[in-house]
Amino acid sequence: MCGIVGYNGSSQAAPILLDGLEKLEYRGYDSSGLAVRSGSNDIEIVKAKGRLRILSEKTDEGRALSGTCGIGHTRWATHGEPSENNAHPHISDDRNVTGVHNGIIENYQELKEKLLRHDYKFYSDTDTEVAIKLIDYYMKKYHGGPVDSIARAMIRIRGSYALVVMFKDYPDEIYCARKDSPLIIGVKEGESFAASDVPAILKHTRRVYYIGNQQIAKLTKGEVKFFDLDREEVEIEPKEVTWDAEAAEKNGFEHFMIKEIHEQPKAARDTIGSIIHEGKISLQETGLTDDIIAGITQVIIVACGSAYHVGMAGQYIFEDLARIPVRVELASEFRYRNPLLNENDLVIVISQSGETADSLAALRLAKEKGIRTLGIINVVGSSIAREADHVFYTLAGPEIAVATTKAYSAQLIAVYALAIQFAHVRNTIEEERYSELIAEMETLPAKMERILEDKERIQWFAAKYSNAKDMFFIGRGIDYAISMEGSLKMKEISYVHSEAYAAGELKHGTISLVENGTLVVGVCTQNRLFEKTRSNMVEVKSRGAYLMGLTSYGNYSIEDTADFTVYIPKTDQNFATSLAIIPLQLLGYYLSVARGLNVDKPRNLAKSVTVE
Ligand code: M6R
Repeated sequence: MCGIVGYNGSSQAAPILLDGLEKLEYRGYDSSGLAVRSGSNDIEIVKAKGRLRILSEKTDEGRALSGTCGIGHTRWATHGEPSENNAHPHISDDRNVTGVHNGIIENYQELKEKLLRHDYKFYSDTDTEVAIKLIDYYMKKYHGGPVDSIARAMIRIRGSYALVVMFKDYPDEIYCARKDSPLIIGVKEGESFAASDVPAILKHTRRVYYIGNQQIAKLTKGEVKFFDLDREEVEIEPKEVTWDAEAAEKNGFEHFMIKEIHEQPKAARDTIGSIIHEGKISLQETGLTDDIIAGITQVIIVACGSAYHVGMAGQYIFEDLARIPVRVELASEFRYRNPLLNENDLVIVISQSGETADSLAALRLAKEKGIRTLGIINVVGSSIAREADHVFYTLAGPEIAVATTKAYSAQLIAVYALAIQFAHVRNTIEEERYSELIAEMETLPAKMERILEDKERIQWFAAKYSNAKDMFFIGRGIDYAISMEGSLKMKEISYVHSEAYAAGELKHGTISLVENGTLVVGVCTQNRLFEKTRSNMVEVKSRGAYLMGLTSYGNYSIEDTADFTVYIPKTDQNFATSLAIIPLQLLGYYLSVARGLNVDKPRNLAKSVTVE
């Protein structure tokens, strides 16, 4: 949530900051702001409520602000409504400290009261203004430099933050501090950058430093130094970003979401390619050896949103193939409920961003209890990737649209690979089945491509039902997990009220909501359960529902029941999610387009939820 960019170099800062913020707009977009300075000149601040475009117009695309050092921010409101007053950057009373922030300062009320007692005034409702003024307070109290004042403030602040700050008396310097919120530093000759995420600076440099938790960075032109809370300098090795800058552009597609839907075969192929060698799965990169796997007695999958839905599908697959008990938990629940964990458990945290606050807290809880942890993560160097004992990197590349598609697909592949390997090591499948599963998994990308070739049918259907008010997705087993993800897509980008139900549960209450014309999607990819779900579809149809069926080629009898059917290629039942989800993603996407909504930046949402 919230996007931060900082620039210190010799070019005009404002256009660079605006460009970087545009790449981060997926993180928050209810207001934005810039602060720019030139040498010892005063800091100039411009803010705007609404989309970044408004800030860009207000500053004549950055030309109205002169200076080569500056910071910028796009906001996703937590404390205080979206308004110009609450927009960042925030500044201390005598303009000594200016800063932007991503995260939540939990004890900001208490800190605010302390500052009020010292005659500080507050003009906004934000926790950020408190943090900025706290730094100013410590600077004046102890007469230390920026690193000292920031460190003192960090010790007092509870919560999460990525802070990027400029000081009146330290021209041509930018300071950053981080705890549990993402922040990276990029450097090239004569220039340095700070950003919430790599796409913001990729066109300038690929040399990136991942600033550690509770560390401070000092950015001068072309140089960066890192300090810990004791103000001691610490060494951090830069990393080279390997992915292409084009990967973070729309490349001719109308939206990032549809581009990323089309990138799913590649995301799946790359992820499969990273773990299959000579027809066998190798988890060597993750550090999960066969001995470790053999000793695990229970798997607990913890995640949020779509990543949780991957876990739901994973539970069916793991238990079916590897015959090991699997629990799936929402990270926001797991972290607060004193869960029962045993020393031989494995906690798997699934997260695209690797920064989701609840997932990170869940990981830390498991670690505190001495339980082995594995992260299935897309963003290299993210907090969960750094803190987990083992990491399985999905190779989906940068995902920009708020609604996840290709990262979800890559996470599914990771879960399949783990389940198959656990089954292999635990001897719950024969050698032949092991090879069959791997070979079938390798066919998935081509099958995904075939589904994408037929997208116009879904587009037509979505246009026809663009006025839908309520929708239900029903299925059993893995089809229920697919339904949950299909339903979330519908809600988040199309704003259609939708619910996913285990088909057998409908009669226990929900069916009373079905009336003439209610749209119901019946997901029937599991042969064993096909007839069961179909009879639930008949039940809703007889109460007036309009039915879309989603099943594999060959199950043509569904047409006796469904009003509109979408077929997917046949695959092993355990892998059906990878194929069945694509028509549902397309349905959500085209419905959103047909309703004229902002597909990539749906209201109230941000790409990575770094606050709880
Ligand atoms: O970055 P993460 O995978 O941890 O994010 C988890 C959820 O916030 C995310 O999947 C969210 O539900 C997506 N917007 C769904 O499309």
